[in-house]
Amino acid sequence: MNKSVLCALVAELIFKVDKELEDEKPFLKHSDLLDFPGARSRLENQDWSMTWRQFFRPQQITDGLTVVPAWTPPPSEFAGKVLRIDPGPAFGTGQHPTTRLCLAAMEGVSPSRSWTMLDVGTGSGILAIYGARLGARKIVGIDTDPEALQWAEKNIDLNGLTGSVALSSQPLDRQTGAFSLITANLTLETILGLLPDFPRLLERSGALILSGLLEEQVRRVQEELPNQGFHQTGLRSMEEWACLVVKKVGSRDIKS
Ligand SMILES: C[S@@+](CC[C@H](N)C(=O)[O-])C[C@H]1O[C@@H](n2cnc3c(N)ncnc32)[C@H](O)[C@@H]1O
Repeated sequence: MNKSVLCALVAELIFKVDKELEDEKPFLKHSDLLDFPGARSRLENQDWSMTWRQFFRPQQITDGLTVVPAWTPPPSEFAGKVLRIDPGPAFGTGQHPTTRLCLAAMEGVSPSRSWTMLDVGTGSGILAIYGARLGARKIVGIDTDPEALQWAEKNIDLNGLTGSVALSSQPLDRQTGAFSLITANLTLETILGLLPDFPRLLERSGALILSGLLEEQVRRVQEELPNQGFHQTGLRSMEEWACLVVKKVGSRDIKS
């Protein structure tokens, strides 16, 4: 990542904070890392390709999950699941509230029986990797960014899960099959655009986790849910961000 690209990211991040571009780009690659105190002031005169790494630290996400940078030793005292991530230029360190909300929501809906997962906008692969750790037997991760798919592959390997996640650049409307769990940490406009494809790809009792939404944007998605035969079963928020869990109207609980 060169200096001009990083400057552009910071400038757009400031737009995010100012609430001026919420519908267009509510978050940016590594904007979670740039939120750390003092981060922005330290962005000048740095090695731009590596600077962000110092803000990515081990973080306990839930009681049972810690995410650590690939270059940091896993915490020896932690008894739960540990994900090792090097996002490269892709989004998905586990530090951004939207990713954290998705990871926590996944724990709430991952079923005990055999289940499958589709991760839409996999980025670093973090959600797909956690799906594998939670026991999904088949996982597909898709992304429109070829570079993200390369880093997702690296992270899958890094976590000893080679071959357990099928990565694809095919768009959602080209995906086939029905999945027990679909995760989509995107943006409002992207979610609204993809919403009509989700019913076809979600099992009758499956769960769809939608994030990347600012709290004030949730209503727009809620308004569209009935049009696709969905209803909301969960809502989580962190800072100004929100995550919806939705299911098909009349579905049984995914855990049954
Ligand atoms: C905010 S990141 C989420 C990364 C990771 N899943 C997480 O939760 O941290 C969104 C990702 O979605 C990808 N993306 C954007 N629009 C997409 C679309 N229509 N289909 C698939 N991927 C998309 C972007 O390239 C990016 O990698």
